[in-house]
Amino acid sequence: MEAPKTIAIDGPVAAGKTALGKALAEKLGYRFLDTGLMYRAVSWLAIQQGAGADNEGAVMRIAQTCPIRPIGDDGASMVIGEQILGEELRHPAVDLASSQVSTYQGVRSALVKQQKQIADEGPVVMAGRDIGTVVLPDAPLKLFIVASPEVRARRRYEEMRDLGKEVEFQEVLDDLLARDHRDESRDASPLKAAPDAVVLDTDGKTLCQVVQHALRIAEGVQ
Ligand code: DC
Repeated sequence: MEAPKTIAIDGPVAAGKTALGKALAEKLGYRFLDTGLMYRAVSWLAIQQGAGADNEGAVMRIAQTCPIRPIGDDGASMVIGEQILGEELRHPAVDLASSQVSTYQGVRSALVKQQKQIADEGPVVMAGRDIGTVVLPDAPLKLFIVASPEVRARRRYEEMRDLGKEVEFQEVLDDLLARDHRDESRDASPLKAAPDAVVLDTDGKTLCQVVQHALRIAEGVQ
């Protein structure tokens, strides 16, 4: 059976949404959109313009006036205004700022509008925190990816060490728990599974196993 043309993937930080989303999109020949990178692009521009994440009005104006689009095949780069951003979006200052920027309702509304437009353009796998609940509530397939905090922190810790960053595991775990709390407790579109989402626990599973499982689910959805 054919997979649905719109697939929403949500879940907490470092649960494996991006790796799964990219792999699924590649297998199905769909476009992949990592919406976290859109919040990061707005945050990066706010920092560049000297506004800072605290300035809600300025950050909102950026989100409302600067179109953001994914660029390239790797799903890891965005264009905002005239700027092409890749690695910059992973900077720790952007990490921190995006966590605050994503709590502003005005920013969320502006980005959700753009995300819906991208979904209207053709088959898409979209990953984030509110895709199944707010952005694409009618998506025929919604996946909610979970893994224990320790497993997620271990993945993040190893990624950072591979990039040559000196970090302690406990520091990474504490940061991840704080992010979970912020994502789940904010007023604007808190992280939660849509009632009709399929929950996939990735603890102890390889990416390949998770992708196979998701494909079987996708092919079973009308
Ligand atoms: O997934 P990420 O870590 O790249 O996301 C960056 C920030 O944006 C993070 O604080 C969660 C937030 N976010 C969100 O609120 N809604 C989304 N759809 C995607 C990300």
